[in-house]
Amino acid sequence: MNQISSELKEKLESVNLNDVIPENSLDRQLYFIEKCKKEIAELKEKIGRPLYACVKTFGCQMNARDSEKLLGILMQIGYEPTESEEADFVIYNTCTVRENANTRVYGRLGHLHAIKKKNPHMIIALCGCMMQEPDVVETIRNSYKFVDIVFGTFNIFKLAELLDSRWNSEGQIIDIWEETKDIVEELPTERKFAFKSGVNIMYGCDNFCSYCIVPYVRGREKSRVPEEIVCEIERLVKDGVKEVMLLGQNVNSYGKGLAEPITFAQLLHKIEQIDGLERIRFMTPHPKDLSDELIDVMSKSTKICNHIHLPLQSGSDRLLKLMNRKYTKEHYLALVDRIRAKMPDVSLTTDIIVGFPGETEEDFEDTLDVVCKAKYDSAYTFIYSKRTGTVAANMEDQVDEAVVKERFNRLLETVNEVSHTIITRYTGTVQKALVEAVNDHDDTLVTGRLTSNILVHFEGGADLIGQIVDVRLDECKGFYYMGTRV
Ligand code: 5AD
Ligand code: SF4
Repeated sequence: MNQISSELKEKLESVNLNDVIPENSLDRQLYFIEKCKKEIAELKEKIGRPLYACVKTFGCQMNARDSEKLLGILMQIGYEPTESEEADFVIYNTCTVRENANTRVYGRLGHLHAIKKKNPHMIIALCGCMMQEPDVVETIRNSYKFVDIVFGTFNIFKLAELLDSRWNSEGQIIDIWEETKDIVEELPTERKFAFKSGVNIMYGCDNFCSYCIVPYVRGREKSRVPEEIVCEIERLVKDGVKEVMLLGQNVNSYGKGLAEPITFAQLLHKIEQIDGLERIRFMTPHPKDLSDELIDVMSKSTKICNHIHLPLQSGSDRLLKLMNRKYTKEHYLALVDRIRAKMPDVSLTTDIIVGFPGETEEDFEDTLDVVCKAKYDSAYTFIYSKRTGTVAANMEDQVDEAVVKERFNRLLETVNEVSHTIITRYTGTVQKALVEAVNDHDDTLVTGRLTSNILVHFEGGADLIGQIVDVRLDECKGFYYMGTRV
């Protein structure tokens, strides 16, 4: 779904490549998009075949949204999209939240190099969070010279300009910014789904949880103005979108730095008024500042989904303090109670880290205790990964690997038990499901998502994709349901 407004189309058509290169960020990028488009057209003509681009996303939904922007630019330039890395342009949009994300990228680069040796037109680019780490960039500069373009999280909108620089120079192009200087939001995007979309409401994070590298790679918190967000969602709805996911590292601090401050709950209220929009999701709120105002707006809303992702990280007060999370176990559980009092049927999910430095058996048991009491629908569980530059990286007392593994398995068992009992609560009920796709394993089935974020598979065809339909949930199969359309 290439999303390009008529206004943008007009602007692109009026670009004159004989003019001086514009200074203004948007006009400048449109200039380079047109310039690249011309070069790609000539190349396609010369080699007599289409050119393909592959965007691989690692990490979170922020990155997934950024990838749609990258693909939007590449398609505007004239590349055809492909999932295959045997392409003419391959870009890895990287994550660095845990060490294994970095290892995976290095591992795959060797494979890309082999493909590139066979294709003289191939361009390899790396961007995203991992590129904001200086030692990573040094390694790429010294040991991965075949990588053509390296950029970070703050300048993804510059892709066309960087590609043009690469074509006009011999070596690697490296362009890493330390912070947001400019944000150009108006460029074309290529949405993965016609009926749902992520929408950035803010960038960066100021929380500095002691284990987390995100504040160092995504910079300081910066909110978009509400009018711009509402306008973007209105455009998406006109284009067929029924569900939006509002994205921010901590949505509860949305609006604080704006000239006219506004709360996240107030923003939700504005978005709720958009005609034609059917579902609103958001990711991620921090338990330390989830307000009663937000709970109130959610409980009265007909569009905000019945789901809150509320990262716990640990149930131990001692570790929560060391993690700089600014809440206690008691505070977290009281918040869960306040949420359930107003939304008894709400679906809660969470993130948990096992093996934070100094974690004792007692600390870990506190985490298990919260899992049992909070009754999560599901939990993402992570083994602590030491990230250089964070406060926790210098903490002594890293936990023995075997102990961490054993705790991790115990945590999974508890999470599975708890979630299985809680998810079955819908058995036999009829719920609304937004149909997302034909089932991967059985093409007589489609997969729909409930407002609680649980998936249901039921009989149906591709014509249902993007529709919200009533489905009876016949049988719970662990994390999903089998159902029947009614
Ligand atoms: N090690 C393990 N997990 C981490 N997360 C963030 N940083 C780390 C780390 N250093 C997890 C947190 C966060 C999720 C996105 O990733 O649980 O909520
Ligand atoms: Fe997303 Fe965090 Fe990974 Fe960056 S480091 S891609 S923000 S999960």
